[in-house]
Amino acid sequence: MTSIEAAVAAAQAYEDHLVGSVFGPWAKRVVDIGAPQSGEVVLDVACGTGIGARLAAPLMGSGQIISLDGDAGMIEVAKKSADKAGLPEGVALEWHATPAEEKIVDDATVDLCICMQGPQFVSDPPLALANIRRALKRNGRLAASMWNELPNNKGHYAIAQALQSRGVPPAMKPFSKGKLEDARQLIVDADLEIEHFETAEYIASFPTIRAFVDGVAAGAPATRHAIAQLSDADKDGFLRDVEEILSPYKTDGGVRLPTSAHLILAIRRDYLA
Ligand SMILES: C[S@@+](CC[C@H](N)C(=O)[O-])C[C@H]1O[C@@H](n2cnc3c(N)ncnc32)[C@H](O)[C@@H]1O
Repeated sequence: MTSIEAAVAAAQAYEDHLVGSVFGPWAKRVVDIGAPQSGEVVLDVACGTGIGARLAAPLMGSGQIISLDGDAGMIEVAKKSADKAGLPEGVALEWHATPAEEKIVDDATVDLCICMQGPQFVSDPPLALANIRRALKRNGRLAASMWNELPNNKGHYAIAQALQSRGVPPAMKPFSKGKLEDARQLIVDADLEIEHFETAEYIASFPTIRAFVDGVAAGAPATRHAIAQLSDADKDGFLRDVEEILSPYKTDGGVRLPTSAHLILAIRRDYLA
């Protein structure tokens, strides 16, 4: 498999196993907070498989959505998924396999930027946020989400514990802005004014604990790389540990895993001197 084929396969697994159950419902909350309007220009930074565009376009009816992600596999799957979704023709879609640290739009041209589980994922969060600020028009909005601290995200917490007990460091990047002050500070330091900040919960459902672990191992942008470090001999014991830790969350219909994230709406305010 070439590296782009492997990236597309991982992105497709993310779309198939994690967007419907976890990222999609959170994305809907962020898009609702951002409230995209007809005719607006929307920028989706770290767009993944493009759930932002698929949720925003029907609300807009007309306008433009520019989506970027550093992973070319994500962008391939995003384009295909948008085609399949049959979005309104009046919304022009643009896709870029470009890191958030690069500037791809002209200054002060964007009404709304959405960055969902993105600010903490990028390589240089302050630079990515500076690019977002620069892209926003005066009074333009940023709607963003970042996972709360790891212990509040029970599925990943179980995976992290089971990895750690086998000497494999868990992926901490997804939770690196989990402390409320860290999430707030990233936005404030970018000279954006926080209009709304909440820490919310969502229960993600999976048919089995194994289905959750397999989905994460195949498609989670950071944690799949940590799980891949397990030796073959350790894999069964790892799954058994995760199943035991998560047993309190099992129900007759499957498993219900609490997830928690910070949701933010911030505005670019340019005050006249
Ligand atoms: C957890 S996913 C979120 C994707 C999407 N926003 C969603 O809600 O489904 C994090 C995304 O950040 C992307 N990413 C990581 N580093 C990046 C960077 N430097 N620039 C742009 N995207 C990046 C990953 O490729 C991945 O698609």
